[in-house]
Amino acid sequence: MKLTVVKTPPAQYGGDMAVYFVRQGKEGAPLCADSGVSAMVEQAFAAGDFLGKEGQTLLYYPAPAGDKSPLPRRVLVVGLGREALDREGVRKAGGTVAATALKTKAAELLLVVPEVEGLAVDQVSECLVEGVILGSYQFRKYKAEKEEDKPGRIDAVALGGGRKTAAVRRGMKRGRIAAMAACAARDMANEPGNHWTPGHFAEYGRKLAEQYGFTHKTLDRAAMKRLGMGGILGVNQGSDQPPKMVVLEYRTGKKVPTLLLVGKGLTFDSGGISLKAGAGMDEMKYDMCGGAAVLAAMAAVGEERPGRLDVVAIVPATENLPGPGALKPGDIIRQYGGKTVEVLNTDAEGRLILADALAYGIEKYRPAAVVDLATLTGAVIVSLGHHRSGLLGNDQQLVEKLLAAGDRSGEPLWQLPLAPEYSKQMESKVADLKNVDKRDGGTITAAAFLKEFVGDTPWAHLDIAGTAWNYTEKSYVPKGPSGIGVRLLLELIRNWR
Ligand code: BES
Ligand code: MN
Ligand code: ZN
Repeated sequence: MKLTVVKTPPAQYGGDMAVYFVRQGKEGAPLCADSGVSAMVEQAFAAGDFLGKEGQTLLYYPAPAGDKSPLPRRVLVVGLGREALDREGVRKAGGTVAATALKTKAAELLLVVPEVEGLAVDQVSECLVEGVILGSYQFRKYKAEKEEDKPGRIDAVALGGGRKTAAVRRGMKRGRIAAMAACAARDMANEPGNHWTPGHFAEYGRKLAEQYGFTHKTLDRAAMKRLGMGGILGVNQGSDQPPKMVVLEYRTGKKVPTLLLVGKGLTFDSGGISLKAGAGMDEMKYDMCGGAAVLAAMAAVGEERPGRLDVVAIVPATENLPGPGALKPGDIIRQYGGKTVEVLNTDAEGRLILADALAYGIEKYRPAAVVDLATLTGAVIVSLGHHRSGLLGNDQQLVEKLLAAGDRSGEPLWQLPLAPEYSKQMESKVADLKNVDKRDGGTITAAAFLKEFVGDTPWAHLDIAGTAWNYTEKSYVPKGPSGIGVRLLLELIRNWR
């Protein structure tokens, strides 16, 4: 998608679709800066079709005038509602534009950047572009399509309206980087288990390193054995695909703190010997969304090269399958760093691979803060549904930073408590820890398990099981994987101080 900033008066734009945004009025028709468009809006209002409510659209095909001046083939008017508009509202408007463009086969668009009270023009541009790119995302790699039911695609978006072009350009770039990264995470997640194995994670990491100059390594099985990573090795035992642990380092070259990101990269989770039920098991190809988010966030970091932080990303990647060598309930494993774990349920595998990655990353990189992302528990869907990711941590300052980043990025979080009582639940009679307790409070006990591997390092855990796919009905989040976490992490990094 080509993005530009233009000064052409929108009325003389000769492309596929000119887009205007209008607020709903107290009474009467919504107002539009362009008089020709306003006349059309008034007619639609009089007919009772268009009030300018949030998400409402008016689409028409302007009649050619006698003087042969170029005209857009279509005009789209998008309602913004009458409530105060925030960043998320603008993003959703962008999503609505994308949906209409795809439906109508409009490939080249001009968006007239609206004035929004309380939001600077660069923010409006940023969120609009974010919404359009995220909303027009499609994954059609494996499907041949008949020409007539091919959906549209957006090739070019111009931002116009004539105001403050430098700020519009700045916002556009931020929005583009964030949205493209989130779409990259969606692409990884959309690949099914047979096309996205731990080896694919390793390959992707290597390519990112090459493209952005990151220091890079992938730990293979031999390295894991040498290091004593019994968690990921144990989970991998039932699989034919070798495990990988991808490590990427972004370095500023300055004396700045390090942020460590860890993402769960379970390329398929069958549950292992504690096999999951059959219905819906295909969705467990998405159990790598945390890992995808972390790598995609690194791509955005590579684009923006932030100056206040070094960033290290680690993705432990494996399948979880039953097989003759698979872990069995009751088995005892030794995690990186030496702690032993009684594996009572092989379907609680995410915490085992994360524990190795967290302990290793913290020992090796001495980060100032650690954030892990994982589709870790079904329980988080019971508690929060699909509209908030779960957040738990041992450092309230880091938690607050994440909550703020969640709000700004439109990827909101909800904090759950971590307290000693929950940690007590994870004590085993025969090992240092057990990997599950009773079902109740499952999101919290999972985090309590992870907490044992981070020591005193400020750490926060995001359980994205409810938000990584089947996310909310947002105009800019299509069905399937949402790319959750990418824009949140980027926002965290952008505002770090
Ligand atoms: N990957 C799953 C969690 C999950 C479930 C994510 C549903 C998204 C949707 C995880 O590995 C898992 O199986 N967790 C178990 C833990 C239990 C055995 C303590 C769960 O949530 O049932
Ligand atoms: Mn599992
Ligand atoms: Zn899992």
